[in-house]
Amino acid sequence: MKTLRRAAEIRDLRRLARRRLPHAIFEFIDGGAGREITLRANEDDFARIGLSPRVGVDVATRRTRRDIVGFDSALPVMLAPTGLAGLYWPQGEQAAARAARRAGVPFCLSTNSVASIEEVSAAATGADLWFQYYFLKDEGLTDRMLARARAHGYRVLCITLDLPVQGRRHRDVRNAFVVPPKVTLPTVLDALRRPSWVAGYLRHGVSFGNFETHQLGGGFSTIAQHIASLCDAGADWETVRRIAEKWGGPWVVKGVLHPEDARIAVGLGASAVVVSNHGGRQLDGVPSAISALPAIAAAVEGRAQVLLDGGVRRGTDVLKALALGADACMIGRAFLWGLAAAGEAGVDKTLALLGDEIDNALALLGVPDVAAIGPQILTPGGAPDFSAKMRDPA
Ligand code: FNR
Repeated sequence: MKTLRRAAEIRDLRRLARRRLPHAIFEFIDGGAGREITLRANEDDFARIGLSPRVGVDVATRRTRRDIVGFDSALPVMLAPTGLAGLYWPQGEQAAARAARRAGVPFCLSTNSVASIEEVSAAATGADLWFQYYFLKDEGLTDRMLARARAHGYRVLCITLDLPVQGRRHRDVRNAFVVPPKVTLPTVLDALRRPSWVAGYLRHGVSFGNFETHQLGGGFSTIAQHIASLCDAGADWETVRRIAEKWGGPWVVKGVLHPEDARIAVGLGASAVVVSNHGGRQLDGVPSAISALPAIAAAVEGRAQVLLDGGVRRGTDVLKALALGADACMIGRAFLWGLAAAGEAGVDKTLALLGDEIDNALALLGVPDVAAIGPQILTPGGAPDFSAKMRDPA
């Protein structure tokens, strides 16, 4: 596809995704909670960190490989768990998992995927698969889901902690976004301008593939209703301990912004802590992920890995996160835009862009191996003082 070939950066994939997706679906991906202060800060704070290159270094051979929770990843990058990927492109989870396998990076399947645990593992044999778990009210369902994930080769359990209830996402309320999408005059008029998406949707439809029909209650529901009916807001660290014990393999916690929470997770045996504000989709006004990272990396003290997501849009963002103490980054929207624009080839493009940008930046920074990235690549003083500037633009 010519347009895909001409995409110079991930922002171009977002533009293509916007053209292909119905408005409400594009906004579901794009949007955040509240006034989207945290959503904007996730990207803006990366832009405020300066890089300090060295010259006169042999950079003829460069290395981008990095261990991510025991997997020798081709890049310090992996695909974040994201719900409903199959709504953005037919069989979107399978497409993304295959693209991750091709690029040699891990893929994390969401509890709220369209494709099931079984369908994704069958479509992407040999990929490094992780399964993301939201605390469910139904203990039997939890047991079955974890057993299915283990039996189908998912290696790491990612326990997401920042969604006891869903954040308040104004765009979804204004767009009356429900699953399955409702047929109304405005949605039909909008869909008529998006024939490629409609054709895929009519062939494949949408459902929450990891749940059985009777568990979903039938009919249309907002994502907030879906979460409220199935997820357990009563879960705590004792629940984390119990889930980790049931799982029996490597596990990570996702959604940590406070150093003390990172310490607790490490004390319970987490292999990694994911510094994340859920892409600005949960509580508006919390710190950007990159500004929360240094204190958490300091609290973890190398006893576990530190991953980060939120606002990662280019290779230099990944290197800045590594410089401030992360081992790797997860990407959410960056791959969803590629997926929504062009399916598997679009996710290939996202990962190729990030890989090329990382490689290019290593050469231009004078640091030929990502393993050697540290605070030395940042302008003197390292990260700016992030605390000063969160503001509501009214
Ligand atoms: C998400 N995220 C998410 N996280 C999770 O643990 N389980 C999930 O089901 C979802 N679903 C989801 C859907 C969509 C459309 C988005 C954009 C995000 C959060 C995701 O894993 C990650 O934390 C953010 O996407 C990171 O921010 P960026 O990379 O999108 O800026």
